[in-house]
Amino acid sequence: MSKKLYIKTWGCQMNVYDSKRMADALFPLGYEVSEEPHNADMIILNTCHIREKATDKVFSELGRLKEHKDNKESMILAVAGCVAQAEGDYIFERAPYVDMVFGPQNYHELPEMVAKATGAFGTNRIINTEFPLESKFDFLPEETTQQSASSFLSVQEGCDKFCTYCVVPYTRGSEFSRPVSSVLEEAKRLASLGTKEITLLGQNVNAYHGEAKDSSIWGLGRLIQEVAEIDGIERIRYTTSHPNDMDDELIAAHGNVEKLMPYLHLPVQHGSDKILKSMNRKHTADDYRRVIDKVRNVRPDIALSSDFIVGFPGEKDEDHEAMLQIIRDIGYSQCYSFKYSPRPGTPGANMGGVVAEPIKAARLQEVQELLNKQQIEFNQKFIGKILPVLFDRIGDKRKQLLGRTPYMQSIHIDGNKRLLNQTVDVKIEKAHANSVSGSIVTSETVLTNNNKEERTAA
Ligand code: SAH
Ligand code: SF4
Ligand code: F3S
Repeated sequence: MSKKLYIKTWGCQMNVYDSKRMADALFPLGYEVSEEPHNADMIILNTCHIREKATDKVFSELGRLKEHKDNKESMILAVAGCVAQAEGDYIFERAPYVDMVFGPQNYHELPEMVAKATGAFGTNRIINTEFPLESKFDFLPEETTQQSASSFLSVQEGCDKFCTYCVVPYTRGSEFSRPVSSVLEEAKRLASLGTKEITLLGQNVNAYHGEAKDSSIWGLGRLIQEVAEIDGIERIRYTTSHPNDMDDELIAAHGNVEKLMPYLHLPVQHGSDKILKSMNRKHTADDYRRVIDKVRNVRPDIALSSDFIVGFPGEKDEDHEAMLQIIRDIGYSQCYSFKYSPRPGTPGANMGGVVAEPIKAARLQEVQELLNKQQIEFNQKFIGKILPVLFDRIGDKRKQLLGRTPYMQSIHIDGNKRLLNQTVDVKIEKAHANSVSGSIVTSETVLTNNNKEERTAA
């Protein structure tokens, strides 16, 4: 009889990938994914520790879920991900009804953990947050079920860069690249199971240095070229990258690998050299501008994205102005911006020159207004143009088809559900702040529009 597994995921794409692989690891044990926690046999909270209040969020969710556990004692309640890694002992102590705590590098051991938790001698509590010597990727079962048209594939994990605000080097451990053959085998499997778009993932994905069969070391650019050779793969993306790891081979791939989509998320974090230095980013604002120039040289229409942190310790008005300036100089298609959140154990948490909350809020607002303006302007450039859209989901509310343009714009359309998992030409009619909308191009509209010219986007 099948058992119900409910996984709630916070945080980055790596966590989304991990949640899926946890489900793969539990599938042979009879667990099938359910969209809601009611009557679940196992609940996993896959958590994120990047900003403050992460732990509070986990405890309030646990509080809500305790009721399910009270109603069904056999249910296994687990906390996974980066909060589990950072605060496992505390979770165990404060929430005695939690059965299992495990970190991002331990979930390949789920079958053993479940066996122990439901052992013959009654239930046992398990905490598993050691960084193991072996790689989880060597132990996870192969995917065998139908895959989404757009799938994530983790190729690199961890980080050795130690930006002074960031917990990732502590929660994910040091940098590690999967061997080339293991990545390519997974990519081929995904393609054979229905995936058309692959997003290669890593905390610093462009630091990828995977060993190939002939013992040579491949960078991300080379890996992308090889993934592009796989039949059935139409689109390739990668995230998240670091400006210092944008090597010439990767930049060249943006010009010569057709399947590599014209979108790059390359976080700069700040525009002030003083702040970049105390963030330990090891690049200046101009270094970043030069990287962007090189990428635009080979792919002039590329859509650019970044992350920004406002209110880092020591940030003065002139530093804030430098952030606004780099945003104006680059011109982004979409971005993420955050108030600096001091994280225990990181050097930033002990730095002087703390920025007062109202100043942080005002600066964030100014940054976001500028970014929103750029985003809508970027989207407006496409009105009247035809773009190929891969529809990979059906919306929750209005049951519309949801997809992405090559430039990563979200698009939703009232269309026939048969178009799900297809790449379809769409004429862009409207630009919104966070998406574009339009109508599907039928053979008639193709005849009345000069498709070729319209494809030469913005
Ligand atoms: N590896 C990626 C980003 C990982 S975290 C990179 O190097 O760019 C995702 C984003 O969260 C970061 O880019 C940063 O903008 C933000 N972030 C990380 N720590 C933060 C903190 N302490 N406060 C606010 N934002 C933070
Ligand atoms: Fe965090 Fe910096 Fe590493 Fe990115 S590069 S994961 S921001 S420490
Ligand atoms: Fe969050 Fe961990 Fe990802 S802290 S952003 S889930 S690497």
